[in-house]
Amino acid sequence: MRILSSSCPLFLIAGLVRAQTGITNPLTTKCGPSVVCVNKYANVLPYHFFRNLSTSSDASTFGDTTIANGTQLKDVQNASFLVFDQDRGLEILGSNPTYEFVFSVSKAVHEAPVYVPSQNKLYLSQLSPPPGYLPQLVIDLNQDPPTLSEFLSDPPVYAPNGGTFYDGKIIWAASGGNRSIEGGEQREGIRVLDPETNKTTTLVNNYFGFYFNTIDDVAVNKKTGDIYFTDPQYSWFNSLTDTPPQLPCASYRYNQTSGAVFLIDDTLSQPNGIALSPDDSILYISDSGAVTGPVDPKYGHPGTPFNATGHRTIYAFDVSSDGTKITNKRAVYLTAAYVPDGLKVAANGYILTANGRGVDVVDPAGQLLLTVQTNYTVQNFAWTGPELKTLWLVGQGGISKVEWELKGQELK
Ligand SMILES: *[C@@H]1O[C@H](CO)[C@@H](O)[C@H](O)[C@H]1NC(C)=O
Ligand SMILES: *[C@@H]1O[C@H](CO)[C@@H](O)[C@H](O)[C@H]1NC(C)=O
Ligand SMILES: *[C@@H]1O[C@H](CO)[C@@H](O)[C@H](O)[C@H]1NC(C)=O
Ligand SMILES: *[C@@H]1O[C@H](CO)[C@@H](O)[C@H](O)[C@H]1NC(C)=O
Ligand SMILES: *[C@@H]1O[C@H](CO)[C@@H](O)[C@H](O)[C@H]1NC(C)=O
Ligand SMILES: *[C@@H]1O[C@H](CO)[C@@H](O)[C@H](O)[C@H]1NC(C)=O
Ligand SMILES: *[C@@H]1O[C@H](CO)[C@@H](O)[C@H](O)[C@H]1NC(C)=O
Ligand SMILES: *[C@@H]1O[C@H](CO)[C@@H](O)[C@H](O)[C@H]1NC(C)=O
Repeated sequence: MRILSSSCPLFLIAGLVRAQTGITNPLTTKCGPSVVCVNKYANVLPYHFFRNLSTSSDASTFGDTTIANGTQLKDVQNASFLVFDQDRGLEILGSNPTYEFVFSVSKAVHEAPVYVPSQNKLYLSQLSPPPGYLPQLVIDLNQDPPTLSEFLSDPPVYAPNGGTFYDGKIIWAASGGNRSIEGGEQREGIRVLDPETNKTTTLVNNYFGFYFNTIDDVAVNKKTGDIYFTDPQYSWFNSLTDTPPQLPCASYRYNQTSGAVFLIDDTLSQPNGIALSPDDSILYISDSGAVTGPVDPKYGHPGTPFNATGHRTIYAFDVSSDGTKITNKRAVYLTAAYVPDGLKVAANGYILTANGRGVDVVDPAGQLLLTVQTNYTVQNFAWTGPELKTLWLVGQGGISKVEWELKGQELK
C-alpha cells in the first residue's frame, strides 16, 4: 500500500474518507396503500447501517435495519407488502391487494394448511403446546366472516407438520410419536384424511422397522402418484417424539402401490419444505439447518435455536421423467430473515416460502420479487377460493390472508 506523502493536504484525506458513493436514492418509494417499493434492492445503504440477527423467538425484518445513526426504515417496517421487483411484484399484487389479520391463535406452531375445494374449507394443524394437543383446526370459508373451529379425525392424527391435497384427500406428514397418545401408539408417518368421512388411514410408518425422525412435509407427483417427503430431526428437538433420531436427515419418495420407500437425497442438513413445479419437472426442497440442535439424547430435547451461519437455502432438483430420481441439485434462494419453512409453488412457477415474519415470493432463478410482511412468525400458507387467488398464512400467534393476483396450483 502506498503511504500518502506528508505533503498531501489533510482536508483532502478527510474528504476521501468521508465520501460514500452510490447510495440508493431514494431507498424506498410508496407504491400503494401498505405497499412499499424498495428501489434496486437497497443495494447501497448509507453508513452506518446494521441489521440485528433473528432469534428463535423473534425474526428480524428488513425494516429493522437501522441506517444513518439510528433511523429505522419505518415505512418498510409497517408495509404489508414490500416490493423488490417493481414490474413483476406489482403485477402479482394487482390493483387492489389486501392483507388482513383474521384470527388470533396461540403461540403454538400452526402448520399443514390444506384447502379442500369441494368443502371450501381450509384444514390446518396445531402442534404443542399444549402437550399432546390432538385435534386439527378448520377454517370454514363458507361463513361470512370465516369461522375457526377444532376438528378431530377418526382416528385422530398426532402432529401433522405438513400436508397436501391429492385425489380428494388430505395427505398429512405426521411428525410425532410415542406409545401413549390418547392411549394408543402413533409414530411419524404419512396419514391420509378423507374429508368426506373424517376417517384417516396410515400409508407408511417405518423404514424397515425404524421410526422416521419427523416427516415434515409432503408433495405428490401428479404423473405417478408418488409422494415425496422430507424427514428432518425437529420432533426430537421439540419433544414431539420420545425416540432420538434413528435415521439421517433425508428426503424420500414413497410409491403408494408397492409400499416401497426410496431415498432421494441425504445432502441437506434439515430438509423441510418440499414442493413441485406445476409440470412436476422440478422439485424444490428447503434446508432449514440454521435451526437445529444436538441429537445426542444426553442433551434431552434441546429446542431449536437459530444460528445465522447455518443452512437456510431452497434447493432445486430436476425430476426424472419417470419421477423416480432427482438430480442436478442447485441452490436457488437464501432466505434473509430466518429459515425457509413452508414452501409452495404458484401456478405460474413462482416459489413461495415462509421466512420468519412473512412470506417471500421468488422467481425460479431465485430473484426475490416481493415479501408479504406479518406481525407474527409464519410457518406455512395455502391458496383458497374458486380462483385460488387468496393466500392464507398460518403461524405462531396469527392467521392472516392476502388477496392478490398470484394463483396457486390447482390440486386434484
Ligand atoms: C440488536 O438487538 C439487541 C438485543 O435485542 C439490542 O440491544 C440492540 O439495540 C439491537 N441493535 C439494533 C441496531 O437494533
Ligand atoms: C452520524 O453521526 C455522526 C456523529 O454524530 C455525524 O457526524 C454524522 O453526520 C451522522 N450521519 C448522518 C447520516 O446523520
Ligand atoms: C409504523 O408503525 C409504528 C408502530 O405501530 C408507528 O409508531 C409508526 O408511526 C408507523 N410509521 C409509519 C410511517 O406509518
Ligand atoms: C406421548 O405424547 C403425548 C402427546 O404429546 C404426551 O401427552 C405424553 O406425555 C407422551 N408420552 C411420553 C412417554 O412421551
Ligand atoms: C366431519 O367432521 C365435521 C366437523 O367436526 C362435521 O361437521 C361433519 O359432520 C363430520 N362428517 C362426518 C361424515 O362425520
Ligand atoms: C410403483 O410401484 C408399482 C408396483 O410395483 C410399479 O408398477 C410402478 O412403476 C412404480 N412407480 C414408479 C413411479 O416407479
Ligand atoms: C453456529 O454454526 C457454526 C457453523 O455453521 C458454528 O461454528 C457455531 O458454533 C454455531 N454457533 C452456535 C452459537 O451454536
Ligand atoms: C398483529 O396485528 C393484529 C391486527 O392489527 C393484532 O390484532 C395482533 O394482536 C397483532 N399480533 C401481534 C403478535 O402483534
